[in-house]
Amino acid sequence: MNSKKIVVVGSSNMDMVVKTDHIPVPGETVLSGSFFMNAGGKGANQAVAVARLGGEVVFISKLGNDLFGKQFSQLFNHEGIDTHLIQFDENLPSGVALITVDQAGENSIVVASGANANLQNADLKGALPTIDTAGIVLLQLEIPIETVDYVVNYASANGVRVILNPAPAQVLSPELLSGVDILTPNKTEAGMLAGMEVTSMETAGDAARIICEKGVKHVVVTMGSLGAVICENGELSVQSARKVETIDSTAAGDVFNGALAVALAEGKELKEAVAFACDAASISVTRLGAQSSIPYRNELIAAQLQLAGA
Ligand code: RIB
Repeated sequence: MNSKKIVVVGSSNMDMVVKTDHIPVPGETVLSGSFFMNAGGKGANQAVAVARLGGEVVFISKLGNDLFGKQFSQLFNHEGIDTHLIQFDENLPSGVALITVDQAGENSIVVASGANANLQNADLKGALPTIDTAGIVLLQLEIPIETVDYVVNYASANGVRVILNPAPAQVLSPELLSGVDILTPNKTEAGMLAGMEVTSMETAGDAARIICEKGVKHVVVTMGSLGAVICENGELSVQSARKVETIDSTAAGDVFNGALAVALAEGKELKEAVAFACDAASISVTRLGAQSSIPYRNELIAAQLQLAGA
């Protein structure tokens, strides 16, 4: 892989966030929350993470032709993201996510996909020459699965490394999995893909092995504050996470994936890249929001130096 270019294909949402004592159960009303709005969407978060951590990134996404869509486009340009393949849907609004974050930093999210659900294969035709010359293509599952399939097939057939973050969780076909170089499920997604419950680093390792046997070359199961489990050619290894105070875990997985892509594009080996990604994600959980929580490369370096006692 010579190209350092990372192509992110995925969603953009406006996140409407309420920070509250606890996440309400059905029928319950919880008072005394605080509200803020913040740009999000798994695809956009990952593209912003790549840009802030020093990667060269092209983002492919479909926005509504509305106020949020225009704001997103300006934000992406401001981040230094190549936006020439961003499209606007004439009929559907921009994606919106309703997010509740509790005292422990855990969240619940409901997404109204809007234009994200209309990013079709036909929209990707003009992007193929850009994908051809990328080092890495990074995708998630907030756009139609047919589009994910199309990009994964095209990229892998053309020798471009594919990272698939299978979020939110859904069943994936063996054909799709066989085109993926690195799959990065969290414990819920790993459990669904492996057909077992993942409750510990040990069971994450078992799940990673089962998923590898389905045809994915490498599996990295992200385990939040515990770190990550890597399955590489059948071999398991563990990367622990730094101990931090979690304020909001929203987008931590996105930061992990963006950082992983940056480190791999720079030529790091998978284990080293996972360590880099864990460090970046551990900064994001100490901050509120999605894109508002994504660290810049200099912040990551400063945190690493501080922890190393330099
Ligand atoms: O991964 C976090 C993201 O999931 C949020 O930004 C929200 O938009 C949803 O897509």
